[in-house]
Amino acid sequence: MADTKLARTNSMQLESGVAHQRCINPQCRATLDIAQVRTACDRCGDLLDIEYDWSKTAVPKRLSDFEQMWSQRHLPLRFSGVWRFHELLPFAPADKVVTVGEGQTLLQQSNEVGKYVGMAAEKLYLQYEGMNPSGSFKDNGMCAAFTHARLTGAKRAACASTGNTSASLAMYSSVTRLMKAVIFIGSGKISYGKLSQALDYGALTVQIAGDFDDAMLRVKEVSKDLGIYLVNSINPFRLEGQKTVMLRVLEALRWNVPDWIVVPGGNLGNSSAFGKAFIELKELGLINRVPRLAVINAAGADTLFQLYERRGLRWNNGQPDMAIIGDYYSDLDTRKAKADTIASAIEINRPVNLQKCLRALDFCDGVVRKVTDQEILDAKAQVGAGGIGCEPASAASVAGAKLLREEGVIAPSEQVVCILTGHQLKDPTATVAYHSTDQDQFNDVLGKRGVSRASFANRAIAVPNDLDDIVRAIQLYS
Ligand code: F0G
Repeated sequence: MADTKLARTNSMQLESGVAHQRCINPQCRATLDIAQVRTACDRCGDLLDIEYDWSKTAVPKRLSDFEQMWSQRHLPLRFSGVWRFHELLPFAPADKVVTVGEGQTLLQQSNEVGKYVGMAAEKLYLQYEGMNPSGSFKDNGMCAAFTHARLTGAKRAACASTGNTSASLAMYSSVTRLMKAVIFIGSGKISYGKLSQALDYGALTVQIAGDFDDAMLRVKEVSKDLGIYLVNSINPFRLEGQKTVMLRVLEALRWNVPDWIVVPGGNLGNSSAFGKAFIELKELGLINRVPRLAVINAAGADTLFQLYERRGLRWNNGQPDMAIIGDYYSDLDTRKAKADTIASAIEINRPVNLQKCLRALDFCDGVVRKVTDQEILDAKAQVGAGGIGCEPASAASVAGAKLLREEGVIAPSEQVVCILTGHQLKDPTATVAYHSTDQDQFNDVLGKRGVSRASFANRAIAVPNDLDDIVRAIQLYS
């Protein structure tokens, strides 16, 4: 398809109302124009989706038709791993799309990690989203949110963050100069790798005395009061971009659907976006079956696990039992319970996309599990030794797949894709402490979180500054 034709098609699509915002609550279903900025339905307060009238848009007949885009990599729109699937998120004209080259990510088959998880050979895949420009999957969504923000004329964009959303927002802001970035972070809760990105990119960084859940509440209030564009995953446009992680997985598998997608769960934007991707692909007849979805919480931030697996909360055709959620949150308040995990990216107790995630779990016959910090760090060390590496939260997917294998929920012969959400260098403190020979450093960072051993530590060896000793040590250890 010629790009000029595409640009023309997209402008026409928007004029003829191909996309709108729609309340996810089937009892409400209120619609809202695409140009409006909202993070919740005006009528009932539920979350919003972007919905398309596919009959008015040019959707390829087969997913493999997207391969034509590979020959157009010289065009920024087609170089992007998000926008080369523009036809499946057609809410903005091609000439208004924001891209900084996001989504050049890799699906790597790893037998090393597969063995650790308990899979048969060639069955485990790692989807490396850390290869995005800001080092995490967030860029997939941020380019979409920025595109919408630009359409609405926004001058400032804000987020609360455990670190990666803020790094991504700060980066898009500094590269595109379209908007000023304002980021809210909890005190002492953000890894240095991520904080350094926000500071270096020049974002206005507001550190509030509280955790992510507190920062999230505040940023919603402040954005409303000051008319700042909110780019957290509660923003439905962001999730449109994140759908493409699944499209790239399918692309790498030559359009075959895997048996399982395993993803860490924090604010539940990814799992929600993945579910929406599969709902739409099925509706469009582009796939004929869907993978099962496993969402993995950290044990210290396990709201979804508690609600879904322990209290039986379900999507229930869009009518989840809100009393179960209300009771759970009151109990957290009474106990003054705060999320606490080494996987700081997913240290979240009140996930904003809970309902959408329930919908995804419903559609994809999903399961939810929780894994300890010990399991996360051991899995992370295995990913480092047998893959490209990842930050702690990402390794929850591998630890979760291992647990599901041990339980027999995942069979060794099934094809499993674990999403590695963030780059290894995002949180060097956790990595170095795990591999450290210094017990104090280990205890300081990990011991206080119940991590008692580093089963796969690769310890540095100390040698005198002497040639013979160095040679002897290398011969001994290699
Ligand atoms: N993995 C990483 C590396 C993350 O940064 C996050 C979320 C998640 C997993 C969870 O994804 O929210 O879609 O369920 N980080 C957010 C942030 C909350 O502020 O950077 P989710």
